[in-house]
Amino acid sequence: MDARTISDDLERVLLTEQQIQERLAELAQEVWAHYEGKDVLLVGVLKGAVIVMADFMRALPGSVPMDWMAVSSYGSGTKSSGVVRILKDLDADITGRHVLIVEDIIDSGLTLSWIKANLESRSPATVEILTLLRKPDAAKVEIPVRWVGFDIPNEFVVGYGLDFDERYRNLREVATLAPHVYS
Ligand code: PRP
Repeated sequence: MDARTISDDLERVLLTEQQIQERLAELAQEVWAHYEGKDVLLVGVLKGAVIVMADFMRALPGSVPMDWMAVSSYGSGTKSSGVVRILKDLDADITGRHVLIVEDIIDSGLTLSWIKANLESRSPATVEILTLLRKPDAAKVEIPVRWVGFDIPNEFVVGYGLDFDERYRNLREVATLAPHVYS
């Protein structure tokens, strides 16, 4: 669905489908050049990264494998602790491999900080991060991110994989919600 279809639910569109696709195409060229001659494994974190993974990997000019993790916080109140539980681990052994984590958004940075440390403990060759969105004003931990699609304001956004109560992930744009939806 697109923003026009559900305009009553939205406040404003931050990123159009075209802006997102153009940026992913740029990032794909940079990433491909960076890993030239090396095998890279794309690692997505369910569920939000599903859409960005699908579009980003198809923008790459060659074949790459992907793998997935699913993680969960220990209880809703402790998300800010950054302690997460692995619900689904990688299928692949990443020992000696170049890993690129593909994320939809870095908010506090706590989830990815934990995931990166966890993957680094498995003796990969390298672990880098690509995220479509980042909220600099929400950062609670410093996390080195090599490729960022867009820095956005510290507002609640949905679409392009991002949900509110599991809804709006299939919105083509990234948008803020109208207050009546969540209040
Ligand atoms: C989102 C997003 C990141 C995380 C970022 O996932 O996909 O994994 O939150 O937040 P942080 O930087 O504050 O840790 P979420 O837990 O909403 O799950 P989802 O991907 O299934 O929507």
